[in-house]
Amino acid sequence: MKSTLILGASRGIGLGLTSELISRGWQVTATHRSPAPELAATGARLAVADMDDDATLTALAASLAGERFDHVLINAGITGPRSETATNVSRDAMAQLFWTNAIAPIRAARLLLPLIKDGGSIGFMTSRLGSVGSRDHGYAELYSASKAALNSLTRGFAVQDVGSRDIAVLNLHPGWVKTAMGGDGADIDVATSAKGLADVIETVRGPGQRYLDYTGATIPW
Ligand SMILES: NC(=O)c1ccc[n+]([C@@H]2O[C@H](COP(=O)([O-])OP(=O)(O)OC[C@H]3O[C@@H](n4cnc5c(N)ncnc54)[C@H](OP(=O)(O)O)[C@@H]3O)[C@@H](O)[C@H]2O)c1
Repeated sequence: MKSTLILGASRGIGLGLTSELISRGWQVTATHRSPAPELAATGARLAVADMDDDATLTALAASLAGERFDHVLINAGITGPRSETATNVSRDAMAQLFWTNAIAPIRAARLLLPLIKDGGSIGFMTSRLGSVGSRDHGYAELYSASKAALNSLTRGFAVQDVGSRDIAVLNLHPGWVKTAMGGDGADIDVATSAKGLADVIETVRGPGQRYLDYTGATIPW
């Protein structure tokens, strides 16, 4: 039985992916930071982690120290200040956005990397909006910058931390998904995104780093 640890699964894409992987026979350990009745109903093994609280991440890694996972997914993320730009955002709001979306995922990844089996993979839920190479618009500049920062940090993580280990590093774009973050006008529902992401997670193996969307298509960095 394949096993995964998903950080940030109380709702939205993390919750959908938990259900999808369980339906495919995976053993899923899924984290939440506040009561998560829908997650509990999936049958996942639950654990607590707040990306903004190092102590909970350290405690999570310690509690799972004897285990090995085929896949670890760092999914948690926030939109940040939706209607603001670099011109008018506050330092505190920007610090929060970059912390949760870029710094905390790398800190968590460094704690959890020893728990990943050789031949397995680690996923970071980034976004197509984090692509610098394909950015030809000014939409959501702060959120996009936070995901670009995450992408940059993962590039170093792949080389420096994963190094020569046989672990695939997957920077994943889930599509534009109808969640609290994506909104009702988004392109696809959670189930469609989760099925695609599960296919990618189940099939992409081997050393190296890939930036892929939920259909498996490559995104330029
Ligand atoms: N929806 C889209 O169209 C879209 C597109 C591209 C990328 N993404 C990315 O996909 C991921 C999931 O997005 P979503 O649409 O499912 O968003 P969502 O419905 O807003 O869910 C966000 C999830 O992240 C968790 N989370 C946020 N901050 C956290 C923290 N500090 N510690 C622990 N958990 C935290 C939330 O937990 P709580 O319930 O405790 O708040 C929730 O489970 C995010 O990284 C997002 O940036 C989404």
